[in-house]
Amino acid sequence: MKKALISSLLCLSFALPVVAATAFTDGKDAVSYRQANFQMIRHNMGDIQDMIRGNVAFDVERVKRRAEALALLSRLPWETFTVPGTQAAGGEVKPAIWDNLVDVQERGEKLAADAAALLVAAKAGEQAAIRKAFSDYARNCKACHDKYKAD
Ligand code: HEC
Repeated sequence: MKKALISSLLCLSFALPVVAATAFTDGKDAVSYRQANFQMIRHNMGDIQDMIRGNVAFDVERVKRRAEALALLSRLPWETFTVPGTQAAGGEVKPAIWDNLVDVQERGEKLAADAAALLVAAKAGEQAAIRKAFSDYARNCKACHDKYKAD
């Protein structure tokens, strides 16, 4: 019993660093992670936009839920650009991205900061402030896509 425990602990201590080394099996896996991530951003953002445009009724609780998702999602895509093999794995990126990873990282941090500000506004529940924070947040998308996303 004791021996089995020790050997399984040993197994764990050898296995864990390998598992913990990366969340991505390879470069392609990193590409699908970030594309899925950006799609989730698009969905959550689109719902707030529909409320702001009056296509659906404005609902502060719903804005808050979407903003919570965006605050998390906006922090996630950026690490994928440095996963080994991701450059060769494709994705719809302009080649210029690989010489500008610091800029990409900074733009990513800005998006995440603007998402955090949107969440603060959503929690306060003031529509004018939500609109302003949302448009600040949304401005980041096109600016980065023009430089680094392939059409
Ligand atoms: C710092 C740069 C950057 C910012 C900011 C950014 N994106 Fe992107 N986005 C990219 C890149 C690069 C790709 C292409 C990724 C790939 O195919 O590997 C992309 C791809 C996408 C895609 C396509 C995903 C797919 O299925 O292929 C969507 C949708 C998207 N972005 C939405 C957004 C939205 C909405 C925002 C703003 C809230 C945003 N992005 C902000 C860089 C950015």
